[in-house]
Amino acid sequence: MDHFLYRSGTLHAEDVALADIARTVGTPFYCYSTATLTRHYQLFTEALSPMPHLVCFAIKSLSNVAVLKTLGNLGAGMDVVSGGEYLRAKAAGVPGERIVFSGVGKTREEMRLVLEGGIRQFNVESEPEMRAISEVATAMGVTAPITIRVNPDVDARTHEKIATGKKENKFGIPIARASEVYAEAARLPGIEVVGIDVHIGSQLTELEPFEQAYLKVADLTRRLRAEGHDIRRLDLGGGLGIPYQRSNEAPPLPVEYGALIKRTVGDLGCEIEIEPGRLISGNSGVLVSGVIYVKNGEGRDFLILDAAMNDLVRPSMYGAWHDIVPVEEPAPAAEKQEYDVVGPVCETGDTFAKARPLPKLAEGDLVAFRSAGAYGAVMASEYNTRPLVPEVLVNGDHYAVIRARPTFDEILARDTIPEWL
Ligand code: LLP
Repeated sequence: MDHFLYRSGTLHAEDVALADIARTVGTPFYCYSTATLTRHYQLFTEALSPMPHLVCFAIKSLSNVAVLKTLGNLGAGMDVVSGGEYLRAKAAGVPGERIVFSGVGKTREEMRLVLEGGIRQFNVESEPEMRAISEVATAMGVTAPITIRVNPDVDARTHEKIATGKKENKFGIPIARASEVYAEAARLPGIEVVGIDVHIGSQLTELEPFEQAYLKVADLTRRLRAEGHDIRRLDLGGGLGIPYQRSNEAPPLPVEYGALIKRTVGDLGCEIEIEPGRLISGNSGVLVSGVIYVKNGEGRDFLILDAAMNDLVRPSMYGAWHDIVPVEEPAPAAEKQEYDVVGPVCETGDTFAKARPLPKLAEGDLVAFRSAGAYGAVMASEYNTRPLVPEVLVNGDHYAVIRARPTFDEILARDTIPEWL
């Protein structure tokens, strides 16, 4: 459920008409709903209660500081994968003890940064990384809490580019070698093992792969405890999918996911952490774009929008589907026509949808890409020197621009011409 609904014939974000925002902010723009962000976060906390738990929002999915503050104020933790994301979490007022640090390539500089500012735990992905944390922490005279990410060799049955839990993927240590790696961790100075981490992929539309992975983690917890390790936290990663094609997709709900967690690892007495990104942010955001032209091509009509692949890359990168809806509500019996929906960027890959049935649209009309809150703005670029799309946050009947569209002067000022030119 989300808070983007037609009211009086026009699409609203909560109580604000998207067309009103478009008039002041211009198109394209991303728009997020506070009520939807809040609701999705709460679905997870409710699903995990009464187990001791922390929901760590995966910042990579949507990293605007205003969004992080919205969630942080509710008590959310954060999952960060870079020093930059850590600084965003801090800028949003989230304390270090609610921030976990994931990722396969943490640098020593990033380790120092987060150890100075405070960190709940490092999710360690390899032995060289574990040794580096040990060195950095020892030199600083502190102890770094760590979990070790295990790779359970489970098929997440999702898009190959976002599956992470198979042995051929670069993530985690093979679960079969866990005893050995935990034994080394126990010997190293400057680090303290607090638990186990696992994350098998993103946009999972079935619970079964989670179940396989979590059962393996439960077994491992018992084994490592028997070997003398104090496993008190389980970080179970993110990955629960969302319905992108609302007409025919119904992925599992957070409550079902929570029940699965209770069933598989609930009896271990561990504190549970999860790292959902997409399920919190995905359907909390839309990308609103204007129609520049309708072009009649050979056997097809092109809807040329002012948004392009640089603003929302998921369709060209993963062949992803996003529902596209007109901002002005079509009459119930309005005739549909098929469009190839494209942007102005100079490559054929700049295609959002092919032969998409939509009500008849004309120059100047507005459309909204649904489910664009996750991995939308964060993956945008300035390809073709197109300014990064602004972001707007709605809360009830008011809204604020939470990242302004850069001016061309600002964009050009970032380049420097060397003195020899
Ligand atoms: N934790 C870790 C360690 C992750 O690598 C990820 C996502 C998450 C949590 C959050 O997963 P989520 O709950 O959002 O599925 N750009 C791709 C998605 C990449 C996901 C990367 N890792 C897309 O647009 O589909």
